[in-house]
Amino acid sequence: MPSLNDIRSTFLNYFEKNGHRVVPSSPLVPRNDPTLMFANSGMVQFKNLFTGVEHRDYTRATTAQKCVRAGGKHNDLDNVGYTARHHTFFEMLGNFSFGDYFKEDAIPFAWELLTKDFGIAKERLLVTVYHTDDEAANIWKKVAGLTDDRIIRIPTNDNFWMMGPTGPCGPCTEIFYDHGDHIWGGPPGSAEEDGDRFIEIWNLVFMQFEQFEDGSRKGLPNPSIDTGMGLERIGALLQCKHDNYDTDLMRSLIEASANATSTDPDGEGKVHHRVIADHLRSTSFLIADGVMPSNEGRGYVLRRIMRRAMRHAHMLGAADPVMYRLVPALVRQMGAAYPELPRAQALIEETLKHEETRFKQTLDRGLRLLDDELSKLGEGQPLPGAAAFKLYDTYGFPLDLTQDALREKGRAVDIAGFDAAMAEQKAKARASWAGSGETKDAAIWYDLAEKHGVTEFLGYDTETAEGQIVALVDGGAEIGSATTGTKVQIVVNQTPFYAEAGGQVGDAGWIRTDTGVAHITDTKKTAGVYIHFAEVTEGDVLRGQPAKLEVDHHRRGAIRANHSATHLLHEALRRTLGEHVAQKGSLNAEDRLRFDFSHAKALTDGELVAVEDEVNEFIRQNTAVETRIMTPDDARALGAQALFGEKYGDEVRVVSMGHLSNSGKGTDSGTYSIELCGGTHVRRTGDIGAFALLGDSASSAGVRRIEALTGEAAIQHLRTQERRLSDVASQLKAQPGEVAERVKALLDERKSLANEVAQLRRELAMGGGGGKGPEAKEINGVKFIPQVVSGVSGRDLPALVDELKARVGSGAVLIVADTGGKAAVAAGVTQDLTARLSAVDMARAAAEALGGKGGGGRPDLAQAGGADASRADAAIEAVEAVIGGAK
Ligand code: ALA
Repeated sequence: MPSLNDIRSTFLNYFEKNGHRVVPSSPLVPRNDPTLMFANSGMVQFKNLFTGVEHRDYTRATTAQKCVRAGGKHNDLDNVGYTARHHTFFEMLGNFSFGDYFKEDAIPFAWELLTKDFGIAKERLLVTVYHTDDEAANIWKKVAGLTDDRIIRIPTNDNFWMMGPTGPCGPCTEIFYDHGDHIWGGPPGSAEEDGDRFIEIWNLVFMQFEQFEDGSRKGLPNPSIDTGMGLERIGALLQCKHDNYDTDLMRSLIEASANATSTDPDGEGKVHHRVIADHLRSTSFLIADGVMPSNEGRGYVLRRIMRRAMRHAHMLGAADPVMYRLVPALVRQMGAAYPELPRAQALIEETLKHEETRFKQTLDRGLRLLDDELSKLGEGQPLPGAAAFKLYDTYGFPLDLTQDALREKGRAVDIAGFDAAMAEQKAKARASWAGSGETKDAAIWYDLAEKHGVTEFLGYDTETAEGQIVALVDGGAEIGSATTGTKVQIVVNQTPFYAEAGGQVGDAGWIRTDTGVAHITDTKKTAGVYIHFAEVTEGDVLRGQPAKLEVDHHRRGAIRANHSATHLLHEALRRTLGEHVAQKGSLNAEDRLRFDFSHAKALTDGELVAVEDEVNEFIRQNTAVETRIMTPDDARALGAQALFGEKYGDEVRVVSMGHLSNSGKGTDSGTYSIELCGGTHVRRTGDIGAFALLGDSASSAGVRRIEALTGEAAIQHLRTQERRLSDVASQLKAQPGEVAERVKALLDERKSLANEVAQLRRELAMGGGGGKGPEAKEINGVKFIPQVVSGVSGRDLPALVDELKARVGSGAVLIVADTGGKAAVAAGVTQDLTARLSAVDMARAAAEALGGKGGGGRPDLAQAGGADASRADAAIEAVEAVIGGAK
């Protein structure tokens, strides 16, 4: 009997043999669809190939596509476990033609594979076609020899497949398997069609149209083919089972669940095992594709599925977490076909264990509350909404978990009451926000958060995505459209743009719609709403439009490298300077990084070099950067560096990088850097490229600031430094290695030349080196030498005064220096006369005559300045008057 793995291979091999490219499944989170929560059919990743917007080097493809239907329009969650064919996760096998072959080949391919390769008896098969599709009916007749009663014409949308309200679509033909008249049910289109006798196994869609928002339809450039066959269904059929959960793959997971809980796989806990087996698959694949449990969007769907499974594990009597112990069984079954599963195994196990440990803390109490509430209710009465809300709000019971628990007891929840309780809580939160003093401008973002929900951030995994424009805001008010040249703030339902937080700057990039392009210069967030600051550069951008969002890749790459390098820098500083180093602030921008930290004194050259070397060592180590979600307590126990004074929720993101065991940092086998961080990071430390410290400075008391560069900027910086050095070397006509020595010699030489020049200037000013100078005159019994000089600076004057004093022996001297139009004055009195005459008075009198003011010094030497050196004679006269008046 073929296993599900065999069947998948047979399908893909068959189409590969027939000229199809085997394309890997796309991730569960669609990259190219703004409205879809999860990939829910094989054609999603090929949407743009059907419409002709995109071309690849193949026109035929075949895939086994991972699908999740547990949120949004297709939601099978409620029924999983209780029916034979509902799953939250399933695999869709498909073959696709992008304008290559059409009906006349698609039908024979399907018929041959089913009846030859899979060996299904022809007389068990029948088909439906769209009621007007004679062409398809005729091909079935010709190729399969089906009689008219086994080609059922269906006039409803059941046989017209649409991807969603917009997008590629067309009539389809569905192939059914007849399990025989021992099972109740009628053929499709009959009153008994919901019975289990006739089961649809394969849907072939003849893609011919594209549907637009206004309801109009346009023909596709080329008719195409999209088919979908659930692997679990065809598997059950080929393994002669009636229930998908009896196939080998699902059975092995059910048995793993039974083993882990020491219970009977087919006993009373049968439903629990089925739920666990299904939910194990969806949760593991979602985590492998980057979804993490949260209270919003996709993360909340994941959490709902996880917790639903965990309640069922609890019902089986499991005291400890169970789900994570089943992951190896899943990896054994599906790891070969989906390599992302073994790659993410550790993360999946840890995430499941963490969630189950956490949920177990409230699960028991929640279930007791539920029992108490139920005991108060009369026959058939629904659970009051307030109780369901309390379970949700206080005990972490998603609504569907409560509904699932009540289902076993034949009861429902008062949904209207639940919604009312939820609305009341939101109103309270809003009222407390309104009183918190935030600016009025923020009101619009709270309104939008309430109306449309918070923005889902996709940017940890992708830099491009499609989103839907839910609002355009200008000046704090919503507008319907924005045109070329205007600035506007754009809000979308999901975005790859990082909003400024934790020191990392907001992303820039482009938002494109069918009618316009907006350049995004920055992204911020308020109340969970991401605000894209935009300038419309082409056409118009309209509210409600689907949009392609593209982060500026180059810029984000540089920001990412700077952010990861900041983590390495933080750790290197701690290890080099001591445990007291704590982050005080940081900036991770496109062009540089800045890190403020507590440390009292400047770093020595040796410390700077040690830090720079250590960061570069871990860059070269090139190990993967790991991200995990955990409670703040667990993170602290792990030794994570948390930001001082920062408030953390009950879950934190922990970013780790670098391994000590392969480094020169001793024999410690742990992780090098562990930090709580919501930012975006490089995949491997080697992606940082290089790290160059620019220097260390004081930021505030007890806080130092380091600025540094990474990657291309670091290389450019080093190159610029090198160029500067070689410029200097070539001017010195020396080798770069000789520059320091040469410069020192030049500076020494310069110093002695400067001394010599000053000496010569002084001599020149004093009338040459010959000792001849101005004659002294005698005033009031005091010998006085006044001298006017130029070409010397104010600094040189005291030495000249001393020289004149020596020459006069006993007396007073005055020097007026012309310093380029302005004047500098120095006056001196020999010690024996300072009781009679003060140099300060002389300097002041001279300054006044020179158009200046003030002057100061000691009685034997004083200095002053003046505005106009041409009045030197007046200054001398004024000083003579001072001497004349001396007692
Ligand atoms: N896209 C088609 C489906 O999902 C094949 O049924």
